[in-house]
Amino acid sequence: MGAATFFELNSGASMPRLGLGTYKLDGPASETIALIRRAIELGYRHFDTAALYGNEEAVGQALIDAIRAGDVSREELFVTSKLWNDDQPRAAEAFGESLKRLGLDYADLFMVHWPWPQNGTFVAAYRALIDAHERGDLVSVGVANFYEETLDALIDASGVAPAVNQVELHTGFTQPELRTYHAEHGILTEAWAPLGRGEILGEAAITETAESHDATPGQIALAHLLAHGISVIPKTANPERLAENFGALDIALSDDEVARLDAAQGRRQSNDPRSFPG
Ligand SMILES: NC(=O)c1ccc[n+]([C@@H]2O[C@H](COP(=O)([O-])OP(=O)(O)OC[C@H]3O[C@@H](n4cnc5c(N)ncnc54)[C@H](OP(=O)(O)O)[C@@H]3O)[C@@H](O)[C@H]2O)c1
Repeated sequence: MGAATFFELNSGASMPRLGLGTYKLDGPASETIALIRRAIELGYRHFDTAALYGNEEAVGQALIDAIRAGDVSREELFVTSKLWNDDQPRAAEAFGESLKRLGLDYADLFMVHWPWPQNGTFVAAYRALIDAHERGDLVSVGVANFYEETLDALIDASGVAPAVNQVELHTGFTQPELRTYHAEHGILTEAWAPLGRGEILGEAAITETAESHDATPGQIALAHLLAHGISVIPKTANPERLAENFGALDIALSDDEVARLDAAQGRRQSNDPRSFPG
């Protein structure tokens, strides 16, 4: 089983390359807690939630239970949550509420969830998270679903590039221009929907590469992004897939295989942040 290897962020923090996404893990808290405890046993150390997902309490409870049981230390864990759009005007308070729901003293990463530029509040919200970082309540300040113009606005106003931009990204929709911008500004790219929500896994470039590695299509889709230095946060509610997805860390693709996966045709599956109304 793969080791929890890391990416270095511009904040100086280390982020485990593969984490567990928790969007739609919103069933009974006992099930979410059991799944996260199992993930920790398997080696997961990075967990991605958001105020929107309605599961910060259950995610936090699982992590606290695991720490109390001696399975893991707080320092080994990397916990991300996100500020919902409606809360941009009260970002400092909403960040504190997320921490309280998680039951944690600090977050490793907290993101402005969408730029939602029509509200005119994302720069002030980002500044409030920089303040939280300076107070020591937040290790790294991030964003999600930001695009070049909105990233420029943040950097121009604050002089601080976000540590991470989490965007929709998967085989068939690999956002090369945005990744170039990120590389130029020291921003780590993190992929949401790295499995294309399961919809891309029948793609020939994925299935044929999977066969030659004796791997699963899900593992190849994740290994493709990891090969580009992109962090992945696949979601599953299924304990077998939990282990399967973590196994992507063990797969090394050749340059030719990566090039073939890069050439796969696909499309965005969810909202375009340039038009998403929030
Ligand atoms: N920042 C944002 O705006 C944003 C937006 C969306 C998502 N996210 C984050 O990114 C995470 C991942 O994105 P996502 O949940 O939308 O999509 P995803 O991880 O690409 O796909 C999840 C779907 O794939 C299935 N699946 C999981 N592992 C599989 C495997 N090995 N083989 C086949 N199917 C598999 C899951 O079903 P089962 O559960 O039944 O296994 C689920 O239906 C989220 O959970 C969330 O933390 C962020």
